[in-house]
Amino acid sequence: MWQPYILMLAVEAEGLVKFFGQVAALRGLSMKAPGGVSGLIGPNGAGKTTTIHILAGLVRPTRGSARVLGFDAVRESTEVRRRARFVLEDQELPRHMEVRRFLEHAARLCGGEPRDARDALKAVGLWEYFQRVIGSLSAGML
Ligand SMILES: Nc1ncnc2c1ncn2[C@@H]1O[C@H](COP(=O)(O)OP(=O)(O)OP(=O)(O)O)[C@@H](O)[C@H]1O
Ligand SMILES: [Mg+2]
Repeated sequence: MWQPYILMLAVEAEGLVKFFGQVAALRGLSMKAPGGVSGLIGPNGAGKTTTIHILAGLVRPTRGSARVLGFDAVRESTEVRRRARFVLEDQELPRHMEVRRFLEHAARLCGGEPRDARDALKAVGLWEYFQRVIGSLSAGML
């Protein structure tokens, strides 16, 4: 029996242009990333971080559009951040705080409960670091 289905793209960008003053960070990027694992690779200064910032709604493109999980990255960025998680390079984390305290606080900010923090750590195999201070974690753990 024939059944209609929709293949949702995780990311879809169309003609993204970004200028920082005179500097062109993106000159018309179009791309499609399906679900599953994808990588964005390119030389230093190619515009990868700028692209991720646009997808996360942190930077507004000069021209063009992007969708994440079907939502407009500019106009519906709240919906995007409700569903997608972005791990950025420069994270300003409180180095002296225990992992546990930080994650429980984050859980509350997201409308959850402290136990969600434990569940999340268990899910990514980092349960044993619950009591550590953030500053003692490796880059990958962060
Ligand atoms: N806030 C900013 N102000 C001015 N120029 C910027 C700014 N952010 C990025 N750029 C410029 O935009 C271009 C793309 O930078 P971007 O950080 O997106 O590159 P990248 O692909 O992430 O590089 P890398 O591999 O080194 O991380 C570079 O020329 C960079 O100098
Ligand atoms: Mg970068």
